[in-house]
Amino acid sequence: MSNLQIADTHTVDDIIMAVSFAEAAGDISLIYGDAGLGKTVSLKKYVSLHPDTIYVELKDCDKSTKGVCEKILFNIGKELHGVDRLLVDTITDYLTNNPRLIIIDEAQHLSIRALENLRAINDSTETGIVLCGNPTVYDRMHGRGQAHFAQLYSRIGIRRHIIEPDLEDITKIFLNYGLDKESLLYLHKLALQRGGIRNCVKVLNIALQLRDDEKEPLTIDHLQSACQLRNGEQ
Ligand SMILES: Nc1ncnc2c1ncn2[C@@H]1O[C@H](COP(=O)(O)OP(=O)(O)O)[C@@H](O)[C@H]1O
Ligand SMILES: [Mg+2]
Repeated sequence: MSNLQIADTHTVDDIIMAVSFAEAAGDISLIYGDAGLGKTVSLKKYVSLHPDTIYVELKDCDKSTKGVCEKILFNIGKELHGVDRLLVDTITDYLTNNPRLIIIDEAQHLSIRALENLRAINDSTETGIVLCGNPTVYDRMHGRGQAHFAQLYSRIGIRRHIIEPDLEDITKIFLNYGLDKESLLYLHKLALQRGGIRNCVKVLNIALQLRDDEKEPLTIDHLQSACQLRNGEQ
């Protein structure tokens, strides 16, 4: 299996800039983009450099105010359950005394009410909040231009739309595999498809298994066969 180091891609730079801004300005940053483009990897890199950050990754079942607040509270070592107001007030009190950046990954799951409560927490504590997710999170915040959404949307400081990696990014990510130009171009083409960089990593992992032994160099043939296997074509 591959053991990829986090490469310094444009996405990593872009996301670290948006997260750092939220932290420094006590503002809300919105980061959105398709799956597999390196959003979570970039957020986790920031967290590894700033271990004080509150990082929560949501699932569909965490979408309510209660769901997201319980996750934030768990992260700060307070296992608390109760009505929404109690949870929001406890987070607000805590952050007022201990300002810490909150990163919400997979934020597209959040209900409008949960988004409103996070905005209220940001308003009263001026603690930075990062909302990161697939493009639905943008639609949720933007709505269809109704006044209700305008209030939410106008609170966002920085918005970053994460796009596909370029060839330079792919070259950096797969630097340790001794791949030639043709193979890197092949991986870049895969990265532009649905699934993004995650696609490339899956194909690379299969390709590594297709070699006779670990010393055999990885070639475009391995990658192409791996891709066919992944797509059920072989
Ligand atoms: N900068 C990077 N360096 C190394 N691997 C990366 C990088 N960006 C993405 N990847 C690979 O792509 C996969 C998908 O990235 P991820 O951050 O989970 O995407 P997203 O959160 O946008 O869906 C990761 O598991 C990792 O293997
Ligand atoms: Mg992710």
